[in-house]
Amino acid sequence: MHPVKLSLVSAEISKSTVASAVTDALAAIAAAPDSGALKAVRTAHLGDASPLALLNAALKDLPNDQKAAAGKLVGEARGQVNGAYAARETQLVEAERAAQLAAEAVDVTAAPSHVRLGARHPLLLMQEEFCDAFVGMGWEIAEGPELESEWFNFDALNFDEDHPARAMQDTFFVEPADAHLVLRTHTSPVQVRALLGRELPVYVLAPGRVYRTDELDATHTPVFTQIEGLAIDKGLTMAHLRGTLEHAARLMFGEGAKIRLRPNYFPFTEPSAELDVWHPTFAGGARWIEWGGCGMVNANVLRAAGIDPDEYQGFAFGMGVERTLMFRNQVHDMHDMVEGDVRFSQQFGMVI
Ligand code: PHE
Repeated sequence: MHPVKLSLVSAEISKSTVASAVTDALAAIAAAPDSGALKAVRTAHLGDASPLALLNAALKDLPNDQKAAAGKLVGEARGQVNGAYAARETQLVEAERAAQLAAEAVDVTAAPSHVRLGARHPLLLMQEEFCDAFVGMGWEIAEGPELESEWFNFDALNFDEDHPARAMQDTFFVEPADAHLVLRTHTSPVQVRALLGRELPVYVLAPGRVYRTDELDATHTPVFTQIEGLAIDKGLTMAHLRGTLEHAARLMFGEGAKIRLRPNYFPFTEPSAELDVWHPTFAGGARWIEWGGCGMVNANVLRAAGIDPDEYQGFAFGMGVERTLMFRNQVHDMHDMVEGDVRFSQQFGMVI
């Protein structure tokens, strides 16, 4: 037999042995720093081999007349230690849960500092504004390729093979030369594509990127954006062109806007006009600003698309989005529009 157990079994059940077992147990319980340590205290002071358990086991060996008093003494002692244990356990478990909750707490109001908000580009916002204005009048949006065949970009638009007007636009020709491909110099080729691909009447707006061999500087960029408009129907006149553009100008610049047309030349319109816009709030004062080109679609363009010009007529117009943004929103440097700095875009708000 285990010698320690032997000596304890033979221990005298007295008030002092019981009290010292209780004192030791209570001190150990109070000193346990966490619930893990408290479990070890339980084994040592309340387990089968603990002094109090051994004293309890020794009760059966006492003479009968001592059993009741000793039993009461040991029972009360065990009750006291059990009670202290349970109280300390509750206290430690609660403290540990509170510490865990505090450690795992998430501040749902904290703003993540590493996420930077983007902004939609003002050129895109302005294209959408144009589109909304014309869709509101019942027009459709049309598209064409940026890598365009020379035929759509020039020939079908009534630019002769060696017509000087072909040189009006500084063209990027794409190799091989015999493929006759260009980066489109304007959105007007979409006019012909729309006429070939759609049923008459046609009312389309075609926003898109165009290319010219310009150096990037404060007022030029080799890649820019145009808005093309085309209406072909029976009996359309210059008055319809005027009314449509004036309405669009009011939507884009405000109620006080006016337009005026000045004679000009384009191979694909006849007559042709330069389009100016006026508004009382323009920076630099109420004044006329050149906005784009327009005219009645040339009969040769209608014929190239297989349309009888005696039956159908129409008008077309084109304007630059960068230019419009420059004078409407006072953007003074083209670099700001092409560099993609989000701080530039953010000034125009988060319109969706
Ligand atoms: N395509 C012409 C340009 O880029 C503008 C224009 C479009 C003129 C439609 C008349 C009609 O200069």
